[in-house]
Amino acid sequence: MPERNFPRHRLIYTVLIIVFAVFSGFVYTQAVPETNAVNPKAVHGKTLWQQHNCSSCHQLYGLGGYLGPDLTNTLSTKGKGKNYAAAIMKNGTQVMPNFHLNDTEIEALLAFLEHADESGNNRVHSYQIGLDGTITSEGETQK
Ligand code: HEC
Repeated sequence: MPERNFPRHRLIYTVLIIVFAVFSGFVYTQAVPETNAVNPKAVHGKTLWQQHNCSSCHQLYGLGGYLGPDLTNTLSTKGKGKNYAAAIMKNGTQVMPNFHLNDTEIEALLAFLEHADESGNNRVHSYQIGLDGTITSEGETQK
């Protein structure tokens, strides 16, 4: 009977090729969900962030310069927020230069910082280390 003589490795190859084809078809035909798209304003903000080299003084997600504060969660920090950040970006401070940003640019940078705020958390957590080496978060130590 021909089925009986069909070599086992051929069967495995055939199954693998079919699985590969089906999986490739699945990967290439699935559209990226809308929700993953980054707000175009935030993309503009990122360009401005790079042009003005903000990261020479500021960190995002803990990476960057240390002259200024980490800006990952500035917008959701109590007592700070959008208006505060916009005022500093508009005028600069004694240490931070005034980049003479216009309102559109400030809005774009705010959208960029908002994106960082939603996607990262730089706040220091305090942990309880268990006897078996596991850790349990006791919450954030700074707000
Ligand atoms: C020369 C260093 C330097 C550069 C470059 C710089 N900053 Fe700053 N920035 C600072 C310092 C320092 C502070 C803290 C306020 C102070 O001490 O004057 C600050 C504060 C801020 C704050 C308020 C943060 C907080 O949590 O209080 C925001 C928002 C900010 N900067 C945004 C920006 C953006 C956006 C850029 C790029 C366009 C930028 N900075 C470029 C030095 C800098």
